Amino acid sequence: MNSSVFSFLSDFVFLLLLFIQIPSSLSNDDQYSACSKKSACGHISTGFPFWGAGRPSECGIPELKLNCENNITKMNINQVAYRVLEINPEFKTLRIAREDYSAGLCPPKFANSTFNPKVFETVEVYRNLTFVYGCEYAPKTIPVPITFTCKINEVDGQSGYIKDGDNGPGELCTGSVFVPVSITDFPPFSIPDFPPDWNMAAFEEQLKKGFEVRWKVDMDLCWECYKSSGVCGFDNVTSQPTCYYPPGMPSPPEISL
Ligand SMILES: *[C@@H]1O[C@H](CO)[C@@H](O)[C@H](O)[C@H]1NC(C)=O
Ligand SMILES: *[C@@H]1O[C@H](CO)[C@@H](O)[C@H](O)[C@H]1NC(C)=O
Ligand SMILES: *[C@@H]1O[C@H](CO)[C@@H](O)[C@H](O)[C@H]1NC(C)=O
Ligand SMILES: *[C@@H]1O[C@H](CO)[C@@H](O)[C@H](O)[C@H]1NC(C)=O
Repeated sequence: MNSSVFSFLSDFVFLLLLFIQIPSSLSNDDQYSACSKKSACGHISTGFPFWGAGRPSECGIPELKLNCENNITKMNINQVAYRVLEINPEFKTLRIAREDYSAGLCPPKFANSTFNPKVFETVEVYRNLTFVYGCEYAPKTIPVPITFTCKINEVDGQSGYIKDGDNGPGELCTGSVFVPVSITDFPPFSIPDFPPDWNMAAFEEQLKKGFEVRWKVDMDLCWECYKSSGVCGFDNVTSQPTCYYPPGMPSPPEISL
């Protein structure tokens, strides 16, 4: 190979590298401006670690996607749809309520409210309630008659009842759903403690207030990013949070969060 061809080739490689570099730094700027925007939906406005509702996917953790429907912020978690009632970044908590129960106890989506332990943890003092559906008859042994009827599988008037715990429908009933509830909102089902003015409508109202979960993304790393004028986002190649810097600002040497 003669030297001029070699020098042409090395210039070519140099130019090629420039072309590769420029678009990637431009795209970092785009991500900075895209991820600087907060989500906006009804009264909920939030940033990292959430995306959706106006924020592209590179702005948040994949599992923490918000959807906006008629100004109501919603989220799907483990195939269950929830309304997002409140987001508190300081405590990293999210108050959510099951969408199916916003219209009453019947008919439910037969899926338990379970959470990926890598992404969520429970916060307040809570307990699991199980709503049992489609029973031939509701057991008489539960202390308070927390029973209801629903049309299940096209059959009207199927008995259902509410019990403590997360141990399924049992043999006499078709299906069950367990939901965490706050102990302060739902006193124990023992007769002396039970509110005298209790009724199903009051119960359904409590259920609409939802419950809290905490997200487990390490926000301390993002505070560092904000301090150096960046915004936090999510790198879908490394599957890690990352920091995007504003246009014109030289990115600090590969800050890895
Ligand atoms: C959503 O809320 C905004 C601001 O409050 C309002 O302007 C808009 O009309 C609402 N949209 C719907 C679909 O309710
Ligand atoms: C609620 O149910 C989940 C799933 O079975 C379980 O991991 C958790 O320990 C239960 N919590 C309580 C307070 O019983
Ligand atoms: C809900 O959880 C209960 C108890 O762990 C279990 O028996 C039942 O099969 C679960 N239901 C679904 C739809 O996963
Ligand atoms: C990663 O993000 C880029 C830019 O947003 C997108 O084009 C690409 O499809 C994403 N890749 C995966 C595996 O999600």
